[in-house]
Amino acid sequence: MISSLRGMNDILSEDYERFTYFLSVATKVAHRYGFHFIETPILEETALFKRSVGESSDIVGKEMYQFIDKGENDVCLRPEGTAGVVRAFIQKKLDRAGGIHRFFYHGPMFRYERPQKGRLRQFHQFGVESFGVESVHEDVSMIMMASDILRELGIGYRLKLNSLGCNECMPPYRQNLINFVTVHKEHICEDCIRRVDTNPIRVLDCKNEKCQSIYANAPKLINHLCPNCNGEFATLQTLLTQSGIAYEIDTHLVRGLDYYSKTAFEFVSDDIGSQSAIAGGGRYDRLVEFLDGRPTPAVGFAMGIERLMELIIMPQNSRDGYYMGAMDESTLDLVVKMAHQKRSSDKVVLDYKPKNLKNHLKAADKVNARFCCVIGEDELQNGTIWVKDLEDKTEKTLSHEEFYALKETL
Ligand code: HAM
Repeated sequence: MISSLRGMNDILSEDYERFTYFLSVATKVAHRYGFHFIETPILEETALFKRSVGESSDIVGKEMYQFIDKGENDVCLRPEGTAGVVRAFIQKKLDRAGGIHRFFYHGPMFRYERPQKGRLRQFHQFGVESFGVESVHEDVSMIMMASDILRELGIGYRLKLNSLGCNECMPPYRQNLINFVTVHKEHICEDCIRRVDTNPIRVLDCKNEKCQSIYANAPKLINHLCPNCNGEFATLQTLLTQSGIAYEIDTHLVRGLDYYSKTAFEFVSDDIGSQSAIAGGGRYDRLVEFLDGRPTPAVGFAMGIERLMELIIMPQNSRDGYYMGAMDESTLDLVVKMAHQKRSSDKVVLDYKPKNLKNHLKAADKVNARFCCVIGEDELQNGTIWVKDLEDKTEKTLSHEEFYALKETL
């Protein structure tokens, strides 16, 4: 038997219901905030991710599904969605058009990580990207949008917040941090020693406990922000407090992707184990220019759908549509004909196997139908159909006209 690859799951039945329920809520909230759907290819040039996510990041350095295609192009399965949206934004010349452009997307992402609970090699993200707004109000709006989605799904969270500064305050801080780490070089892990040369800021979110105890005393960027970043970070916190959104400052929150500046945030859940990040994002004002577009401020976030599916509280009553079946072989043709007609306006699950009423009721319950509709010899002769409302348990015999006119809300 051929099985799916490690870390790559099928989504079906009950999981699929959770998956589509998540998407319906997230899409509805995205529309409320004025975002439009964008679909970008799953396969992109490897260079796109090297330049945006960063060569020194774990994602690009260790986790890409990268290969040379039949036309000798160096391509890879996207490990995240932001880079592709930025590429499309520039390719469609929206950076030149100016104004504000807001997009949302969802789809599979691929990272060759060590699979474990909550960490997959193929996983799905729902993400949003906003271009053209420099004000920190948009950052707040992004955080509120993620918070709205989580609230509507009944998911509790903690919000972690940090500022990664800008071109003015980050370089001197980086040097400060390198000096600190160099003093402690003999006591930190191999990965951190490597990071000092490639991407020093990433040492701060090293998972090694010994490293963490050393970095507890490392200089903090929020104490070295330039006046502009400092003012914006203060405004961000005031606006969040005014909006009733609780947060905690995490000076070690640096994110695993290199394109961020200023605001960085992560939503974590305490109910799903060690892979606790359910959403993450921030501002990336330099990325459009870095990918050869006109300088454009931008901010966004993405949520991990599989991790959220563990936490979603599904609405209680999800019965919907009609289940239709025949009691005898002789009534099957009529049932099929009526089902086709009913489908022009309603959802109908059709059962082709004649069986007794008890078994039809069981089958209707299994597919979560609202109405179980059955035709036997008597109904065939009388020109009627027997209908049971599985929600309020009432039973009726209806004429064909009454059946076609029947609505779920009545
Ligand atoms: P990210 O933090 O790398 O950010 O991923 C966002 C979310 O995807 C995570 O919070 C997590 O829920 C989920 N996720 C990541 N890796 C895995 C995995 N291996 N298995 C299951 N779920 C996973 C980004 O990707 C940025 N593009 C977000 C962004 C959008 N920033 C600005 N705009």
